[in-house]
Parts: sequence; structure tokens; C-alpha cells
Amino acid sequence: MALILTFPESAERSRKLASDLGIESVSTEYKVFPDGEDYVRVPVDVKDIDVIVLSDLYPDQDRKIFRTLLLLDTLRDLGARRIVLVCPYLAYSRQDRRFRDGEAVSLKTLIKIFENLGADYIVTVDVHKPQAFSGSRAECINVEPFEKYARYVKENIGEDVIVLSPDIGSLWRAEKVAKILGTSYDYFEKHRDRVTGQITMRPRQVDVRDKKVLIIDDIIATGGTIREATKILKNMGAREIHVIATHCQFLNNADKKIIDEGVKSIICTDTIECNHSKITVFDIIAEHLRRLIT
Ligand code: R5P
Repeated sequence: MALILTFPESAERSRKLASDLGIESVSTEYKVFPDGEDYVRVPVDVKDIDVIVLSDLYPDQDRKIFRTLLLLDTLRDLGARRIVLVCPYLAYSRQDRRFRDGEAVSLKTLIKIFENLGADYIVTVDVHKPQAFSGSRAECINVEPFEKYARYVKENIGEDVIVLSPDIGSLWRAEKVAKILGTSYDYFEKHRDRVTGQITMRPRQVDVRDKKVLIIDDIIATGGTIREATKILKNMGAREIHVIATHCQFLNNADKKIIDEGVKSIICTDTIECNHSKITVFDIIAEHLRRLIT
């Protein structure tokens, strides 16, 4: 027996996911006390049941992480059999190593708390660096949306695109999508000042003149990375620039700024719902969950 538990604002997507899996979706009781503290209650019997916790962690990451911790611990207390934590967007995933001496490796801490509180599996989509999961006790599953990206691009943009990663860290994404499309791929050299956050980018010898370019990345936050890449591509004579990214936060109207810079289309998934969420990842999340609960 299995069910999905979620928080009230994710109830609709949870219901769809549950119906895909042929199981029930239940909302936790959740409220915030007048002094700002969280309250969570599990309203059903979960004893000896596999519980999938669907927890959307953006926006307001810290609060959403904390209430997820309350829920995980409660489920363990109440005797749930296996706990599968699904965070389509895994907050803190970019701070997955110590870039400067003394820094907290936030992702490692987060995973440690999730597993210590009883998560047997942690499922997410297109995590910043999948290698960051190595050494975790919980089984961490990184759902890859790249086949869906290639299909979307083929149907809506065309196969004659050059796929570009804005930095070497995302090159593997560009490679996967380009290989499915049977097209070429490359990357820019990006440097981010770890103190100021300032980005500088250097193009490599990529021939984009009069060509369609698809920039692929995992996250768009301020949009600085994509805007910088777009400027360079325009100077190099690219004919059309499209952008595909898995998790789109679009801070301070970043999507508008990207379009104003000359990008023809922005394509995002629904890990974080936005106006550009053109590809759902819930069907591929369901495929992975089906394997876990049967
Ligand atoms: C960084 O390594 C990520 O893959 C993204 O490129 C980055 O998070 C994008 O951030 P922003 O939109 O603020 O430039």
C-alpha cells in the first residue's frame, strides 16, 4: 500500500501524480502559528504504508524545508514503512561543494538531515551536479528530462540547432540533448566571482553565424548567465537564440530581461511553475515512483 502526502498548495499536482500511479493523494494539515512557527499534522493512518512526500521547496525554501523535516519525522514516528521524498526542485543544490575555505556545503547538510529523519529515497529532477549525491545513505534518484527536451525542440524549434551550455558544468546536459537530436554541441567558459556573484564569459570557437542556437542550463535565477551568453551569441551572428532550463526562478523579471536581450523563446519545466513551463516532468517522476512502490 502507498499514498502521496503533500502540502496544501501542491495538492493539485499531487492529485495528478497520484492518479497516474493509481494511489491516493492526501494533504497534510499545515498552518503557521501567529508567532511564525510551523504546525504540521498527518491526517491519515500511515502505519506500514509506503509514503511518497511531494514537497515543493520554492519559493520560501527555508520554511518549506523545515516543515518537510517536521513531516518526515512524524511519518517515521507514526510507523510509515518506506518514505520517498520527492522534491522536483531541490533547494540549495548549487552549494554542493566548498568553493571557498570554511563554507557550508549546504546540499550535503540538507541530504544528511532528510536521511536522518527517515527518507529512504530522495527523488529530484535534473539536480545541479548528480555526483553530489555520492556517499548518501538514502537512495537519491535524479530524474532526467533530456529526452523530453529533445522531443520539444524537434517539434517546436527544429533539429537544426546548435546546443550550447553556458559553462562547462552544464556541458553534459548539452551533450545529452544534442546527441538525441543528432546535432552539435559546445560550451562557454564562465567564471563567477564567488564573492560578488559577477559573471564573466568567454566564447570558444563555435561557429554560430546564421545558425539557430539552443542554450541549455539547469537553473535560471537572476538570468545573468543567459543574458551574458545571449549577448555573446548575438555578437557572433547567431540567427535565433532559444533557451531551455529545468528550474526557473526568474528573479526580478529575469524572463523579461532575457527576452529583451534577444532570446526568441524560453522553455521551462513545471518543477517551479511559471509562464514558461511548457514541459511537465511529472510523468517521468511517476515512471520512477512506479518502480519504487511496486
Ligand atoms: C550555475 O552553475 C547554474 O547552472 C546556473 O547557470 C546559474 O544558477 C544561473 O544563475 P543566474 O540565472 O543567476 O545567472
